[in-house]
Amino acid sequence: MKVIVAENREIASQEGAKIIIDQVKNNPETILGLATGTTPIDLYNNMVKDHKENGTDYSKVKSYNLDEYVGLDGTHPQSYYCFMFEHLFNHININPENVHVPVGKGDLQAACNAYNDALKQNQVDIQLLGIGSNGHIGFNEPGTPADSVTHVVDLKESTIKDNARLFFNGDEDAVPKQAVSMGIANIMNAKKVLLLAFGEGKAKAVKGMLEGEVTPELPASILQNHPDVTVIVDKAAASLLEKQY
Ligand code: F6R
Repeated sequence: MKVIVAENREIASQEGAKIIIDQVKNNPETILGLATGTTPIDLYNNMVKDHKENGTDYSKVKSYNLDEYVGLDGTHPQSYYCFMFEHLFNHININPENVHVPVGKGDLQAACNAYNDALKQNQVDIQLLGIGSNGHIGFNEPGTPADSVTHVVDLKESTIKDNARLFFNGDEDAVPKQAVSMGIANIMNAKKVLLLAFGEGKAKAVKGMLEGEVTPELPASILQNHPDVTVIVDKAAASLLEKQY
């Protein structure tokens, strides 16, 4: 894995955005795998800025998001569908018909099957990831098997707490207890992976991902088996690393 320890979050986000922008410039029909959460917000801001200043063209780009809360549809302000339009899709020239976010309402098994089929037909060129403080990627919580595909997930208490703090005004009861998430196998099928992590709260997960054993107990550790991963962290997230990068 290529590891970049950036001076700070701002620089890390600029470097991450540059990787995605270059990918889209090199292949205007790029298929992006996208993430939500606090981590990619600055990266998306940089993509928007670049689109406005340099006109990077997203008209032929497709996107597949990692996950969605069960019970929230695109009209709910905390849905990941809404998040993506607010932070990225409304501000670049991507065709709304080309964006895909897992469906968290209705017949969930049918929705998961349809998402897996779509991902089979559309191999992601570059998958953007954050990492949970417990090492999850997407909403694949500790214990998720490596061969998992899009599925319904019971969120761990720590994830509910993290997300309540960041997005639901601290109200844990308001956070859905389940999500639909791409599985580990879907993520590993991407041609390239770009993972960002910021802050002290991620340091333990980052250490396990990069320097620990590969284990389902720390889902991100499986990325050690992927041939093309770039990890960009700030100094705080890198603070427990022992090797030099
Ligand atoms: C988001 C996702 C999650 C987050 C992770 C980190 O689509 O799949 O794995 O990347 O929970 O969240 P933040 O960035 O809010 O710390």
